Amino acid sequence: MSPLLTPYTSTALDLPNRVVMAPMTRLRADLRSVPQPLMATYYAQRSGAGLIVSEGIAPSERGRQYLTEPGLFTEEQVVGWRAVTSAVRAALRTRSVPGFR
Ligand SMILES: Cc1cc2nc3c(=O)[nH]c(=O)nc-3n(C[C@H](O)[C@H](O)[C@H](O)COP(=O)(O)O)c2cc1C
Repeated sequence: MSPLLTPYTSTALDLPNRVVMAPMTRLRADLRSVPQPLMATYYAQRSGAGLIVSEGIAPSERGRQYLTEPGLFTEEQVVGWRAVTSAVRAALRTRSVPGFR
């Protein structure tokens, strides 16, 4: 098996494999920075990575940099991100991820 697909463990991380998805700006939230279903699909399709680094997330209204950049400062945005993380976990349950326990 390729070393890339072997588990990686450190004090901070316990990864099923060494594939790490870089942060990539997608700008697919809505104008209130609420994550949309397309984002859940996008991240779920990449659930095989050992670690997914999300795109930049605005921590406050004033911290927004672009229109349709996702945020995490309203309840609606939190709900939107929960849908994303749930979709990733659901995808993990249905696929065979190298090293995933
Ligand atoms: C929040 C954020 C969003 C990014 N979006 C993109 C992107 O959309 N496309 C891209 O090519 N690089 C993007 N980058 C840069 C890549 O993540 C970076 O070039 C990649 O991780 C390579 O790692 P390096 O920083 O060591 O060169 C982004 C970086 C950050 C922090």
